[in-house]
Amino acid sequence: MKNADCTDLLVWALPRLGLLPAAFRRVRGQVCKRIRRRLRELGLSTYQSYRAHLEASEGEWAVLDGLCRITVTRFCRERPAWLHLRDALLPELALRTRRSGRTVVRAWSAGCGGGEEPYTLRLVWDSALAPLFPGLRLEIVATDADPVMLRRARAARYRPGSLRELPPDWVDRAFDWNRGFLYLRPQARCGIQFVRQDIRKEMPDGPFELVLCRYLAFTYFDARGQHAALDGILARLRPGGFLMLGGREAPPPGAARLTPESPDLGFWRRQP
Ligand SMILES: C[S@@+](CC[C@H](N)C(=O)[O-])C[C@H]1O[C@@H](n2cnc3c(N)ncnc32)[C@H](O)[C@@H]1O
Repeated sequence: MKNADCTDLLVWALPRLGLLPAAFRRVRGQVCKRIRRRLRELGLSTYQSYRAHLEASEGEWAVLDGLCRITVTRFCRERPAWLHLRDALLPELALRTRRSGRTVVRAWSAGCGGGEEPYTLRLVWDSALAPLFPGLRLEIVATDADPVMLRRARAARYRPGSLRELPPDWVDRAFDWNRGFLYLRPQARCGIQFVRQDIRKEMPDGPFELVLCRYLAFTYFDARGQHAALDGILARLRPGGFLMLGGREAPPPGAARLTPESPDLGFWRRQP
């Protein structure tokens, strides 16, 4: 089976799933490998025959959708953004929360992968914010459509490579080694609720002070999907709260109610 045939299949099928073929250019190897496995399961020998199968069976589209999830992630991804969050944005959110008489800062990690993103937020809060704001608590809702990723998140067991951007002292403080894997200690897993949700169909109840949506909607979804995701996020983000995207992402053109905070690091502010 030729790679070019897989590319042709993706160019045809991804727009039907509301996804952008161009976004998959660098990562399609992961998707094509899964599709080849699916072809073997179905006893099909070519991508063309899989296309015919999709045209004939409506239910196969949901299977293909699941095969097209890009799951690349790591702790402290784009470290400068996390340091900015720690040093500037979380203190602002914490101060504002305290001044308004609330005791909980709420964050939503949308497309949380194997937990690397919400656990990084937990580590940042516990090491830098919790000592300064002892009367405040951080609660995180972490959602992902992929059950395998959520199982990984709950197991909190990682290969060393996924921690390569974490400062070494954070690793020492929060992880234990066992047989070549790093396990996040139970106290660093507190206050995080993992929920299976497809962001195109459901979102957790707000309001949130902070929403992280990195390398999901604003990379892979088409314009319509991006606007729908953004509308849902903004409806749940407190005025003055922050949206954290990936450093290579931006909200869709024409997005209202958002102002750039530090866009090169991925931060946008919901207008007050
Ligand atoms: C590229 S990873 C990014 C993970 C993390 N946010 C980061 O930046 O490192 C994208 C994640 O979004 C999840 N995902 C893909 N489509 C989704 C959808 N429609 N709804 C919710 N999660 C989805 C994938 O399973 C994957 O865990």
